[in-house]
Amino acid sequence: MSDTLRDNIPHTSARHGLLVWLTGLSGSGKTTLAQTLQATWNTSHHPVMLLDGDVLRRGLCADLGFSEQDRSENMRRVAHVAELFLQQGFLVLAAFISPLEQDRARVRQIIGASRMLEVYVSCSVQECERRDVKGLYRRARAGEIPAFTGISAPYEAPQSPDLILDTETQNTASCVRQLHHTIQARLQIPPGPLEAVQDLSREDGGTTRGSAESRVRWNS
Ligand code: ADX
Repeated sequence: MSDTLRDNIPHTSARHGLLVWLTGLSGSGKTTLAQTLQATWNTSHHPVMLLDGDVLRRGLCADLGFSEQDRSENMRRVAHVAELFLQQGFLVLAAFISPLEQDRARVRQIIGASRMLEVYVSCSVQECERRDVKGLYRRARAGEIPAFTGISAPYEAPQSPDLILDTETQNTASCVRQLHHTIQARLQIPPGPLEAVQDLSREDGGTTRGSAESRVRWNS
């Protein structure tokens, strides 16, 4: 990189980026957790970029379906996009089902294990199906969606993820708090003011699940 180019990049780029890869079934809460983390992240440390499966599949990956080959290509593209943001010092949040271990391993290979956190957003098929936010499980059961993950296509849970967030038993605030702690530790950022997230946890009494919680913001 030329000196001129480097000088024109915001100072945060001098920091190391980090890819937080959220894997889990459709409806497990990946997007909700990523959006809530993004809304509560102090960007003075690292700017944050959210890459979400449903969103990328509307543009960059619109030509891809859900065969193993296409899902694999989806992961490969996302990894290379993430790499560009990591080079600029971003905290990249990637929310993809990414059902196969071999494809997640390839992402790790492209990015490098030291710049990646693998987060397993754990939730049973039964609970995802009960939530069925997008009505896709019902359609998959009716045979209208082939190769639907968890119903007619496999999901391989990570064997040794950096973090497991169980959205079936824990609320969003609790999961996001754990995410904050894990990311801060990896980035060696001093613990920030987590009061906002803690307040939220008290507000919902530990019972609310899956809400956007956009009210929560960092104060510093
Ligand atoms: S991945 O398997 O290639 O990682 P990705 O995360 O990009 O999937 O996209 C998943 C989203 O696509 C789901 O949340 C759901 O909204 C939609 N979708 C449509 N068809 C399928 C399918 N057959 N299996 C899983 N998700 C599907």
